[in-house]
Amino acid sequence: MKLFIFRLFLLITVLSSGSLIAAANGFFGKGSGKSQDTTTFVPPYAEDNQRCFKCHGQAMYEYTNEKLGRKIKAMMFSERIIDKDEFYKSNHRNFSCTDCHSTEYANWPHSGELRMEQKLICLDCHGGDEKFAQYHFEEIEADYKQSVHFKMEEDGFTCWKCHNPHSYKISERNLKNVKETVAYDNAICLNCHANFDRFKLLTDRLEIDIIKKHEWLPNQAAHFANVRCIECHTKINNNVPVSHQIMPKDQAVRRCNECHSQNSILMASLYKFEAKQDRRDGFLNGVILKESYVIGANRNKYLNILSLIIFAGVIGVVGFHTLLRLRKK
Ligand code: HEC
Ligand code: HEC
Ligand code: HEC
Ligand code: HEC
Ligand code: HEC
Ligand code: HEC
Ligand code: HEC
Repeated sequence: MKLFIFRLFLLITVLSSGSLIAAANGFFGKGSGKSQDTTTFVPPYAEDNQRCFKCHGQAMYEYTNEKLGRKIKAMMFSERIIDKDEFYKSNHRNFSCTDCHSTEYANWPHSGELRMEQKLICLDCHGGDEKFAQYHFEEIEADYKQSVHFKMEEDGFTCWKCHNPHSYKISERNLKNVKETVAYDNAICLNCHANFDRFKLLTDRLEIDIIKKHEWLPNQAAHFANVRCIECHTKINNNVPVSHQIMPKDQAVRRCNECHSQNSILMASLYKFEAKQDRRDGFLNGVILKESYVIGANRNKYLNILSLIIFAGVIGVVGFHTLLRLRKK
């Protein structure tokens, strides 16, 4: 009998803590998955752009040298190659190359002066436009102007350095693709922070070894696959979807419990979109828990109270039962 009671007790406690939480999370936190764009896209300027892709679309290009009267084959510099598929998946896929670049690029060889051409910036097109109000371009720019990178504008740092003009695609963030979003966004930073040649273009500083500099973080690989660089390196700004104010290194997040706690900063950054929705249900951490197990975040006030009540109940039943048996004896 005693064994039976003990087993029952174990069963109830396990049920009350473990599966209730899991069940509640499964029940309350349904992600809002927008469906992917699967229809085949027909670029409006395919023919126009083909003039450029025939040289810039792959490593080898050909042209006819009028003077010599023959065909010349040559290699395109890797940094000048533009991936056609990526371009036609990007946000600016409806553009002609010459919407952003001078129409004179249609001529070959390109005139040397074109190198001095002033490039458009995001705000030239997106600034003050109602259609793009949801992205808060102006506020993003203001944040960017206070970030550590801004001082390098003179050396050529611009929004385009993180938002590749020929491939940037805003990620559709939902619970199903958190890992993809993390990988995509981190690749943006690693483009320079893991490529010293690109880094050197902008600064005289010595190479920064990212792996070494983050050695204090246990299981670095797991962290870098589950959180973005910007989670620790930006100042949270609740008015914009993605904070752009990258702070100096000494202001980066280092304390574990800023993420591993009930009030995880991730709710205001990585899990922002889901958080808004889930907060209404009062199950904040369900969001984190569905995708990954962030130690310390898996506490839910109501479930905690509920398990306490069940626990107290079980103790009560066991106590009462023991009392009865003692009396019987
Ligand atoms: C016959 C091959 C060829 C064609 C066609 C061609 N390009 Fe180029 N392009 C090159 C090569 C080679 C370079 C690098 C050498 C240079 O700058 O001249 C280059 C460089 C560039 C650059 C970088 C210039 C810089 O600042 O260094 C841009 C921008 C560019 N091309 C745009 C275009 C656009 C837009 C088109 C289509 C309208 C186009 N190109 C068509 C071969 C071509
Ligand atoms: C939305 C505007 C935009 C469109 C559309 C666009 N470009 Fe660019 N392109 C830029 C900007 C801005 C830069 C400079 C990037 C930088 O400074 O990092 C650039 C740079 C380049 C370069 C120099 C190499 C590099 O990546 O820095 C080449 C070559 C080029 N573009 C070719 C093309 C071709 C070919 C197309 C069409 C398939 C095209 N671009 C479409 C904005 C655009
Ligand atoms: C030459 C003007 C121009 C420049 C420069 C430009 N954009 Fe755009 N952008 C547009 C237009 C127009 C669209 C809408 C395209 C469409 O609907 O096909 C767009 C679309 C977008 C979208 C998708 C919006 C949506 O709701 O689908 C994002 C995100 C975006 N741009 C970001 C940027 C960023 C970041 C920069 C600078 C790094 C930038 N753009 C520079 C004109 C521009
Ligand atoms: C240091 C890198 C960096 C720079 C510089 C940068 N961005 Fe971003 N930006 C990011 C990252 C990372 C994201 C998140 C990408 C994503 O998931 O779509 C982002 C996202 C965005 C978005 C989409 C926000 C949303 O609703 O999801 C816009 C719009 C944007 N940036 C505009 C800009 C503008 C304008 C500038 C220049 C004033 C700029 N960015 C400069 C890294 C940068
Ligand atoms: C968990 C939080 C966290 C994450 C995630 C993180 N960092 Fe850091 N990072 C820090 C802290 C804290 C420092 C300060 C380390 C120091 O002072 O020694 C730092 C330092 C740096 C530095 C400056 C190093 C120096 O000495 O100048 C760079 C650059 C950097 N990180 C880039 C990145 C990039 C790129 C990523 C994404 C791949 C990333 N960080 C992800 C917390 C983080
Ligand atoms: C185009 C290249 C480039 C990209 C992309 C880039 N960075 Fe940097 N970053 C640099 C350079 C260069 C420095 C060194 C600046 C200096 O001279 O102090 C730097 C410095 C930093 C620092 C150190 C500041 C300090 O206090 O020493 C941090 C942190 C940082 N970047 C984070 C990021 C994050 C996060 C991203 C992605 C959202 C990113 N960077 C994207 C080039 C880049
Ligand atoms: C920017 C937020 C953030 C910070 C800061 C942070 N973590 Fe994490 N950590 C996470 C996330 C998200 C995961 C989820 C990984 C997963 O799903 O396995 C994680 C996972 C872990 C894991 C499990 C790794 C594994 O093997 O899967 C450990 C252990 C851990 N963190 C310890 C720490 C310690 C110790 C610190 C402080 C030095 C710290 N974390 C700082 C966000 C953070």
